[in-house]
Amino acid sequence: MGAEPLLRIENLQKHFPIRLGAFGESTAVVHALDDASFDIIAGETLSLVGESGCGKSTTGFTILNLHRATGGQVLYKGRNIAGLDEKAMRPIRRDLQIVFQDPYSTLNPRMTVGEAVGEPMLFHKLVKKPELAERVAQLLGDVGLPPRFAQRYPHELSGGQRQRVAIARALACQPRFIVCDEAISALDVSIQAQIINLLLDLQEKYGLTYLFIAHDLAVVRHISDRVGVMYLGRFAELGTRDQVFGTPLHPYTRALLSAVPEADPVAERSRQRQVLEGDVPSPLSPPSGCRFHTRCPLAMDVCRSTVPAWRDTGVGHFVACHAVPG
Ligand SMILES: Nc1ncnc2c1ncn2[C@@H]1O[C@H](COP(=O)(O)OP(=O)(O)OP(=O)(O)O)[C@@H](O)[C@H]1O
Ligand code: SF4
Ligand SMILES: [Mg+2]
Repeated sequence: MGAEPLLRIENLQKHFPIRLGAFGESTAVVHALDDASFDIIAGETLSLVGESGCGKSTTGFTILNLHRATGGQVLYKGRNIAGLDEKAMRPIRRDLQIVFQDPYSTLNPRMTVGEAVGEPMLFHKLVKKPELAERVAQLLGDVGLPPRFAQRYPHELSGGQRQRVAIARALACQPRFIVCDEAISALDVSIQAQIINLLLDLQEKYGLTYLFIAHDLAVVRHISDRVGVMYLGRFAELGTRDQVFGTPLHPYTRALLSAVPEADPVAERSRQRQVLEGDVPSPLSPPSGCRFHTRCPLAMDVCRSTVPAWRDTGVGHFVACHAVPG
């Protein structure tokens, strides 16, 4: 992992206007992502964690310009790509890919594996037709599938094999950055381990950078260089894996991590659980000040009125909390 940012995210914001009521008579805004600022370092695995609906997928989609940002910037090779139209995005799209939880959403059931993996290369004019079969076979080899799989259809494959095909398709244009949005979450545990190892091998072989979105904190701890913690559309904390898991600063991170069982039985017996009281508030009208104040055991008056600044505590360990000194 180098120190150079591959992507620089500045004050990124995504709001979804929605209609409410049986006849859509009123409107409201979902605050899915607000004021996110962080770098994604070339060659790293940066994971995003947080409860369902906190904005992890929205962050990935908005960075890729699959959602049009409401505000802020995504700098790639010195250029702001947030809001570029599809034509302007086309040469950049090759570099920035996504793998979803459900490969059915990217694999057309009527296309063979070979067609699915070959299509992006033809679209971007990266290979000529006579070379296509060989390149597809090479990509299938990269994801641990034999060349004969090129003739198969998605429904003839197991879940793990389908996810390998989705990864081969994402790799087809030699990308630099892949968002893995719950890419292993639907798979059996033994298959999950295989796909994780495959992703790590491919990262090393091709120098890939991952934004890895996952619920399973044990997996996140295993594979991440850095971890970002989100709560209700805002980043609460971001740091190296050891900083976030070893010395978490934000009360929400501490509560989230206290739910993860320790591998060591002695440590597990003495583990202090911190149960979060109350429900996650609605992203339609998030709490004022710090969005976590309605559930935070340390909440003070200032937390209700003032949004805590997003700041580096000095060693690349970022946090947004009034109670953290410095
Ligand atoms: N297209 C959309 N229109 C309206 N609201 C949306 C849309 N997409 C997401 N949202 C809302 O934005 C918020 C963030 O959603 P998002 O899918 O990013 O969360 P997430 O952290 O990925 O959750 P999960 O862990 O369940 O995948 C949620 O309140 C969600 O309902
Ligand atoms: S800013 Fe206040 S409410 Fe928010 S996490 Fe810190 S102490 Fe808790
Ligand atoms: Mg999601």
